[in-house]
Amino acid sequence: MAVTGLVLIAFLLMHMIGNLKMFIPVYVNEVGETVNEFNHYAEFLKQDLLYPILPKGVFIWIFRLVILACLVLHIYSAVTLWLRANRATASKYTVKKTIKQSFSSKWMRWGGILLALLLTWHLIQFTIVPTLAGDHDPRSLVIAAFQQPLFVAIYVAMMLVVYLHLAHGFGSAFMTLGANTSPKAERVLRVIAHWVAALILVGFVAMPFSVLAGVIN
Ligand code: HEM
Repeated sequence: MAVTGLVLIAFLLMHMIGNLKMFIPVYVNEVGETVNEFNHYAEFLKQDLLYPILPKGVFIWIFRLVILACLVLHIYSAVTLWLRANRATASKYTVKKTIKQSFSSKWMRWGGILLALLLTWHLIQFTIVPTLAGDHDPRSLVIAAFQQPLFVAIYVAMMLVVYLHLAHGFGSAFMTLGANTSPKAERVLRVIAHWVAALILVGFVAMPFSVLAGVIN
């Protein structure tokens, strides 16, 4: 759970940096070519990365398989742990809970399920439908989506769920891997987790809000 979670966080950071390229306006360079940095980045990921070591367009499928495998293993681990926890607490004794749980930690399971549903929607909207329609202009697609307040609201909601999930999950992953060597180390990890989650939240929602406000057009 910890290792796949950290790989997925690394993916999110990369995805966030890629999305921030939307802030670079389309411009005409010195030789008169129109340069669209966001579309160029998307095209580079899908076609050119690791070419000519691999044939054109192959890397993106390896990348997708790795992300999918991490998602499947992450969800599988969550379900296994959930069932194990349920079995362990199915005793007839009434135990008063004394462990203090933070809001984000209580939300890990339901937040995870909600996130899986929102991610499915996200892939249908921005990857599957455009690919089937032969649309090769992600920048225009993203602008058309976020000019509608409803989509901005959906993505802000999704990113708040991601925030809660990471605020707990990032620290927990390092604790599982043995980094909580002292109470102080645990406190430091919790603080770092909140900052990483906040960075990802702000980095992702900045672009949809900027499109809605007309700053990106
Ligand atoms: C405001 C938030 C987000 C925005 C605006 C956004 C935008 C996009 C766009 C435009 C694409 C298609 C890129 C292209 O055609 O090249 C994409 C793909 C994708 N996004 Fe997001 N995204 C957001 C959040 C997330 C989150 C939170 C996750 C994961 C939990 C995620 C996972 C993915 C995945 C797995 C892909 C597919 C990559 C591929 O084509 O293989 N995104 N996103």
